[in-house]
Amino acid sequence: MPKIVVLTGAGISAESGIPTFRGSDGLWEGHSIEKVASPEGFSSNPDLVYEFYNQRRRRLLSPEIVPNAAHQALANWEQTLPPGDLLVVTQNVDNLHERAGSKNVIHMHGELLKARCIDTGEVFEWPYDLTRDTPHPRATKRLGRLRPHIVWFGESPLYMNKILEAVRHCDWFIAIGTSGKVYPAANLVDATPSFCRRVLINLDASDNSDDFQEVRLGAASIEVPKFIRSFEVVSTGRC
Ligand code: APR
Repeated sequence: MPKIVVLTGAGISAESGIPTFRGSDGLWEGHSIEKVASPEGFSSNPDLVYEFYNQRRRRLLSPEIVPNAAHQALANWEQTLPPGDLLVVTQNVDNLHERAGSKNVIHMHGELLKARCIDTGEVFEWPYDLTRDTPHPRATKRLGRLRPHIVWFGESPLYMNKILEAVRHCDWFIAIGTSGKVYPAANLVDATPSFCRRVLINLDASDNSDDFQEVRLGAASIEVPKFIRSFEVVSTGRC
């Protein structure tokens, strides 16, 4: 069971050039986020939804998008700990934790570089554009339509049993770059045991800041490495 659970949100990837969700006007080219990130939006205008994710996928694959110091610090930290002691639960659909070297990562809201067959539920690595005409990769099987492997508003997050099991037993729960507005991610902190130390690292106060014993306000690229250094000093007694 991991001793440390780190919950990350869009804020940790902001300094890598991936915009957060609830930024300025909350719109994408004039469309509300719910229109491009809900099953209803997908059934009423699939082309728009495919294009929204195609643009995000292309951006993620562009050479200027790289992990930042916060992703890097978490990956390095994991390597200094016994295997399995640190689990990253991310709401992000990018792959920046993995690219930084994190091994123990759960994507509770899906992954941009994967596609899912609507009929069979099979999941495929998918670094390409998707359209309603994209052929199913295994044409020998029943042809099904592919959709982005993303958890939309109104759908259930992935791996919740595994996540809750980890959260209920952890000694440290550290939330980074998340607004605390989207559930169930926002109330994972409430499932931590009473002995757990709860830390929030965010640019500004989140909706659930009061649930944390320690709040560190600032950019993730600065605050995450700083926090990990202070953690290591306390736990090893070094100064
Ligand atoms: N460092 C730290 N925090 C930052 C930074 C930064 N450089 N930049 C922004 N933030 C903070 C913002 O202050 C905000 O509180 O990150 C938070 C991002 O909030 P959201 O955009 O709401 O992202 P998130 O909490 O991940 O959203 C949850 O909602 O739209 C759905 O499924 C989508 O996974 C997403 C979920």
